Amino acid sequence: MKVEGKHIRSIWLEPDGWSVSAIDQRRLPHEFVVARLKTCDAAADAIRSMLVRGAPLIGATAAYGIALAMRADGSDAALDSACKMLIATRPTAINLKWALDDMRSTLRHLPPSARAEAAYRRAGEIAEDDIAINTGIGRHGFALIEAIVAAKKPGERVNVLTHCNAGWLATVDWGTATAPIYLAHDRGHAVHVWVDETRPRNQGASLTAWELGHHGVPHTVIPDNTGGHLMQHGMVDLVIVGTDRVTAKGDVCNKIGTYLKALAAHDNGIPFYVALPSPTIDFGVDDGIRQIPIEQRAVDEVTTMTGRTADGRIETVRVVPDGSPVANYGFDVTPARLVTGLITERGVIRADRAALAAAFPERVAAAAE
Ligand code: MRU
Repeated sequence: MKVEGKHIRSIWLEPDGWSVSAIDQRRLPHEFVVARLKTCDAAADAIRSMLVRGAPLIGATAAYGIALAMRADGSDAALDSACKMLIATRPTAINLKWALDDMRSTLRHLPPSARAEAAYRRAGEIAEDDIAINTGIGRHGFALIEAIVAAKKPGERVNVLTHCNAGWLATVDWGTATAPIYLAHDRGHAVHVWVDETRPRNQGASLTAWELGHHGVPHTVIPDNTGGHLMQHGMVDLVIVGTDRVTAKGDVCNKIGTYLKALAAHDNGIPFYVALPSPTIDFGVDDGIRQIPIEQRAVDEVTTMTGRTADGRIETVRVVPDGSPVANYGFDVTPARLVTGLITERGVIRADRAALAAAFPERVAAAAE
């Protein structure tokens, strides 16, 4: 999508043909900094430290991490240790495992000398596929928005609420939850986005607001607890969120706080949609609440806040009393029964086992192997 009128992706291969660049998302919205990743260790560190984040982008970065590892050493031992290091970076987004499994199966039958080239090729395909998938999600989600526009009075704006950042920064381009929004906006529909700030890391306030602003999409940042009030007053037409993992029966794991938005949407009769690329489906897991590992992150994400001072300095301040115990769960699970529909690259489907299996039979078969 666009930054300062120029099209940019979240991650790309440099013209040198081997090093990888990514936008450092820890520095947004105050500074636009591009980080150059030259080793698998650097790619792992980028995922761990959330220089890159968002389920699809984590997968793409891991794929490039394997390519960087193979460039240094194409042996079986190097492939194993790169996969082991990368899989340990973040536990919840299944796209990480999906990408590593894909890279491993692409490479393992090749001689070590052929692996680097094949790894770069496959990582590039994973990145391109992500864009194609999100374009499909955009098309199908746009139809939902159009239907709401048709049901409202002509010219009235559609209000979409989203949580965290499932935008182009979280993917390679377009985003998942934002793809229908960008398409609707680009085609001249009046769309407005309520952006949950998404404490503690503020991916909504820092990243979603930044991308929407740069693309010219009208939006309003709201504190996390505001959504229910807006829904009670008819100010939200639909919710679209992203996800880090969807189970075989349609449970949805996403950034902490998503479940509460789904409850509020359910109570107010507001459609709650989840946008997901197929690599986010985990057909090996059924019960999201009991089976998905929920990342717990450092407490200083909760005890402190970082921002820009009036004189332009970036500062971190403490907002919790010294000594108060703190918990920092990164994700929660929204049961399938609260999800109106799943917006996938193959259409909008019900959040249930039969619909998921019918839409992605090859993934079901692969999970059974
Ligand atoms: O902890 P993060 O910032 O990686 O969490 C990101 C989310 O929860 C997104 O909503 C999800 O990955 C979907 S991204 C298209």
